[in-house]
Amino acid sequence: MCGIVGYIGNKSGTGMVLDGLEALEYRGYDSAGIALIDGAKGQVFKQVGRVSGLVKEVSKKKPEARLVMGHTRWATHGGVTVQNAHPQANNRQSIFVVHNGIIENFAEIRAKLKTEGYHFDSQTDTEVIPNLIDFYLKQLPTFEDAFKAALNDVRGAYSIVAVSTKEPETLYAARLSSPLVIGIGKDENFLASDPSAIMEHTKKVIYLEDYDVAVITKSKVSVHNLKQDKQTEPKVELLDYENEQALLGDYPNFMLKEIFEAPATIKTATLGRAQADKNLVKLGGLESVLRQLKFIDRIVIVACGTSYYAGLVGEYLIEELAGIPVEVHLASEFKYRDEPFSRSTVLLAISQSGETADTIAALKKVEDYGVLRLGIVNAVGSTIARMTDAGVYCHAGPEKAVASTKAFIAQVTVLSEIALHLGAESKNNPKLFKALLKELNELPAKAQAVLDTADQIKKVAEKYKDYRDFLFIGRHNAFPSALEGALKLKEISYIHAEGYAAGEMKHGPLAMIDASFPTFAIATDSPLLEKTYSNIQEIRARGGPVVAIATEGNKSIKDLVDDVIYIPKALDELQPVLHATATQLFAYYIAMARGYDVDRPRNLAKSVTVE
Ligand code: M6R
Repeated sequence: MCGIVGYIGNKSGTGMVLDGLEALEYRGYDSAGIALIDGAKGQVFKQVGRVSGLVKEVSKKKPEARLVMGHTRWATHGGVTVQNAHPQANNRQSIFVVHNGIIENFAEIRAKLKTEGYHFDSQTDTEVIPNLIDFYLKQLPTFEDAFKAALNDVRGAYSIVAVSTKEPETLYAARLSSPLVIGIGKDENFLASDPSAIMEHTKKVIYLEDYDVAVITKSKVSVHNLKQDKQTEPKVELLDYENEQALLGDYPNFMLKEIFEAPATIKTATLGRAQADKNLVKLGGLESVLRQLKFIDRIVIVACGTSYYAGLVGEYLIEELAGIPVEVHLASEFKYRDEPFSRSTVLLAISQSGETADTIAALKKVEDYGVLRLGIVNAVGSTIARMTDAGVYCHAGPEKAVASTKAFIAQVTVLSEIALHLGAESKNNPKLFKALLKELNELPAKAQAVLDTADQIKKVAEKYKDYRDFLFIGRHNAFPSALEGALKLKEISYIHAEGYAAGEMKHGPLAMIDASFPTFAIATDSPLLEKTYSNIQEIRARGGPVVAIATEGNKSIKDLVDDVIYIPKALDELQPVLHATATQLFAYYIAMARGYDVDRPRNLAKSVTVE
């Protein structure tokens, strides 16, 4: 959440920083701003709304400077106003700061600074930082000392960039639990929340670690670790992926494009891994921990949102195939539990962005437990990818729309490969092993078949667009699909939607059902289908409209429900991939019919880097 970009070099950095902010807009899009330091003068431009508005505003004035930094905001403290947009400045307008994260003790610092004569113009937590640096600058010899002293006072999570009009050649940066990467150029250096903002300019990067403080000029980067209290030798890494700038092509938005990437996503995630002809699964990312994996007797999955629901699908897969008990926890809850944890437990974190603060916190919590920490991550080089002992990349390519679509498809695919990998060792369920491998190879064509019915799904969606509430139900493997379907609908269409285990309806939710409360039932072929039918009957008996996903060829369901969306016949365990493709399209078309911006739904951001 919140994106940061910085430039110092011989050229004017305005264009680069604005382009970078556009690339990072998925992190937050409430407001945006830039600060330029030219000579001893600082200029700030801030706008509420999209980065494009800021670009328009800035281009009228065409300001130039060799030191520029910018920010795109997702509001935490203080409403969406120009005053609260970043950069924030000290009272003397000589220090400017952009910040991603939360300063938990800002109220305390603000009160202390007020007694020193400082005043505050915004409601942000960030505004205390430039003023605190200013305060220390009156007592300490250098800006760097004052910056470090301020960092020692703040509690919370942050990536911060600070600049001073007195030092027009230097960017000061710091990181704690929030990502920041430095790009190394020739006579120029860059800073960003993630490499996508700078990789057009350089492939050489330094990922800052927690407690790192970096001093960056156009020709030098020095890093000091506050916790270790010593200068560190920053490791320069080469970005090992091509400019993955996602382009819309002929699609009207990224969400639809990404939904339609499902078949390619499955193919890429299985390429060279799921080898049905040889009846084997090869996961290069786990090779370094093969020995440890032999001794595990419990897997704890931690994740948030859609990744959590993918984890629930993985729970069934791993338990059935490998016979290893699995628990799935919401990362935001897991970190506060005090559960027993043995060394033979594996912690498996699932994250598209690899930057979700809650998931990172869950991984950090077990840091000293001596347990194996694995990751299923999409964003290459992200914090979670780097902090886990081993893992399997999703390789789904950049996911730009806030609603996660192809990442879920890739995560379930990878989870089934991990289940196969662990199952190969235990030979717990050889019949399912073979069937699953075969299905993984057939799945891209089946996902494509679902996409080919997009027009029919659109028609059904448009019929239901005006309802206020929706229930999604499913049993066993289809239960996570119901949860995910409901999440997708609520986040982009703002319709209240709940996912429920179909068998739980009679324990409460049935009370809500009437003609104004439709249900989306996931009723595809499975040994439990008849039981789901009974639950649908109970809903119909109370006058509730029902849309169902059913398996191709199931004609009888038409007599039971109002509308049917068909998906191809598939192995029960992998049907969630096809359910997801159908529910993604359903949510998408409802949101479009209601006239919403599906790529940037209100109140959300793609990468949730605050707790
Ligand atoms: O990047 P992550 O997979 O860790 O993100 C987790 C959730 O924030 C994310 O899945 C969120 O729920 C999506 N907006 C859902 O579509």
